[in-house]
Amino acid sequence: MDSGTYVIAGGSSGIGLELVRMLAPSAARIDVWSRELHDLEAGGVVRHAACDFGIPDGPLPEAPEEICGAVYCPGTITLRSFRSLTTADFRHDLEVNLIGAVRFLQACQPRLRGANGCPASVVLFSTVAVGQGMPMHASVAAAKGAVEGLVRSLAAEWAPKIRVNAIAPALTDTPLAARLLSSPEKREALASRYPLKRIGTPADAAAVARFLLSDESGWMTGQVLGLDGGMSTLRA
Ligand SMILES: NC(=O)c1ccc[n+]([C@@H]2O[C@H](COP(=O)([O-])OP(=O)(O)OC[C@H]3O[C@@H](n4cnc5c(N)ncnc54)[C@H](OP(=O)(O)O)[C@@H]3O)[C@@H](O)[C@H]2O)c1
Repeated sequence: MDSGTYVIAGGSSGIGLELVRMLAPSAARIDVWSRELHDLEAGGVVRHAACDFGIPDGPLPEAPEEICGAVYCPGTITLRSFRSLTTADFRHDLEVNLIGAVRFLQACQPRLRGANGCPASVVLFSTVAVGQGMPMHASVAAAKGAVEGLVRSLAAEWAPKIRVNAIAPALTDTPLAARLLSSPEKREALASRYPLKRIGTPADAAAVARFLLSDESGWMTGQVLGLDGGMSTLRA
């Protein structure tokens, strides 16, 4: 399946960019959809198409004819108290995290095809804050909780032709989390909260996404995989 065509929304930065770099040596084609190129080098098998999932019903690029794997990475990190969150914040978080994923999958679904008798694969992103309540996370956790519902529903509806899974990371060192990781002291304090005593890297999450895209995970669907240094399940 590695030699197939992938569409990666949000493949220009953070986890998605790392995934593009992991897949590129063996992929036939990778289409990246995002607002900007950032550090992405388009060329070879990698193409970039501009779009903004934050614009309700904004235009989306044309999906390739046949897609073996589709990944939706755009997300938000609106960490504020419930008192200071507006309904506009909740709507924006739903737009980027949930409705964007829905529109992305509507564009890709007719073209998702597995190969060699294996299903095609979809990967979405949740957050550790859905399964474990955390202060300041009401808006993003509500939006990502909806994504988890979408994952299980579509996994049931699209089996056996398309597998649908999600990754639920905790704090990962990407541009999205840069504000939280802006000094060595903050990094150390946050890392110490995890049983594995470090925060996540883009490569940690991209490796799990690559596994979920590959036929090695061919008997997995409807799963939300925690990727959180043990935070959600261990008391170390
Ligand atoms: N980093 C963390 O600590 C963390 C923790 C839990 C969950 N997650 C989840 O993991 C996923 C990946 O996050 P990341 O940390 O890799 O984020 P990131 O570094 O900010 O990358 C996000 C990617 O999505 C694109 N994107 C964002 N908003 C978009 C929009 N409105 N329209 C089109 N493209 C958009 C960005 O490109 P453009 O800017 O060019 O549009 C970028 O390529 C997200 O769903 C996030 O919620 C991350």
